[in-house]
Amino acid sequence: MKQFLSVADIGDLKAAIAEARSLKEDPFAHSALGQRKTLGLVFFNNSLRTRLSMQRAARNLGLDVIVLNTGGDAWKLEFADGTVMDGGTAEHIREAAAVLGAYCDIIAVRAFPGLQDRDDDEKEEILSSIIRHSGKPVISMESATRHPLQSFADCLTVEEFRTGARPRVVLTWAPHPRALPHSVANSFLEWMRHMDVNLVLTHPEGYELNPAFTEGVQVLHDREEALASADFVYAKNWSSYTSYGEVLTRDSEWMVTAEDLRHTANAHFMHCLPVRRNVVVEDAVLDSDHSIVIPQAENRIWTAQVVLKRMLEAMN
Ligand code: CP
Repeated sequence: MKQFLSVADIGDLKAAIAEARSLKEDPFAHSALGQRKTLGLVFFNNSLRTRLSMQRAARNLGLDVIVLNTGGDAWKLEFADGTVMDGGTAEHIREAAAVLGAYCDIIAVRAFPGLQDRDDDEKEEILSSIIRHSGKPVISMESATRHPLQSFADCLTVEEFRTGARPRVVLTWAPHPRALPHSVANSFLEWMRHMDVNLVLTHPEGYELNPAFTEGVQVLHDREEALASADFVYAKNWSSYTSYGEVLTRDSEWMVTAEDLRHTANAHFMHCLPVRRNVVVEDAVLDSDHSIVIPQAENRIWTAQVVLKRMLEAMN
């Protein structure tokens, strides 16, 4: 594996999930694979799970890890070529990425969208500049449009908790006070389409996602109809894609409640975390046996470990 940016990079998903389950059984089975190699984690945005699960996964493989938080710790970066850099930016991405490439064997990058200009965000300028100028394998730790590490862990979690063939998996929009990216929802649909599940998407009018991610997915605006008989309910907020980056409603009717789950097939509740209690989902769900958000978060380790292992194997 030379890069990990989307589901296209994982190959056979069934085999990848089996590999993650095997690493979960025996985390140190490949502890010599990463020796004398360094993983660089570059964060342009906050993180708890991605930051820590990547480090756990890397250390299980014997990798050394260095972390760069670009916010206050690094020089302000310039991305435009040909710029006279006599303003606020002190370092060009060309040098910064090349230096990261000199220090690291694998580079993982988190860079959220600005949610101001859709075309700009979809260019994925930070991620593609680091790919272009570092010369090293790159992992997306969530970009403007996708969060593949999260979705891979979500697939493992559904596989572990499913009890029957072809479970009904419902991705539901939920309210949030701030404008959030589309990446988790986009990726979830992209990856779930490779699983043997009955996938349903529900959201209020105006929250349609990029059609590139929803093609072939059943979309229901009637939330009750969508949740009926669900085996998995995955809640996530995203801002409007069509009225780009806007919060069109904070309708609390879309918060996931214990009453909602009574109309499902005793559904498991999933969320990528962090989650705002009693805004996105009520306490009574998160604190109940329905919730599998903690095993879901733990699975971030094993799926990240598959990605790192495959990259290391490709180098040897
Ligand atoms: N789900 C997820 O990516 O969590 P963090 O933003 O804390 O890394």
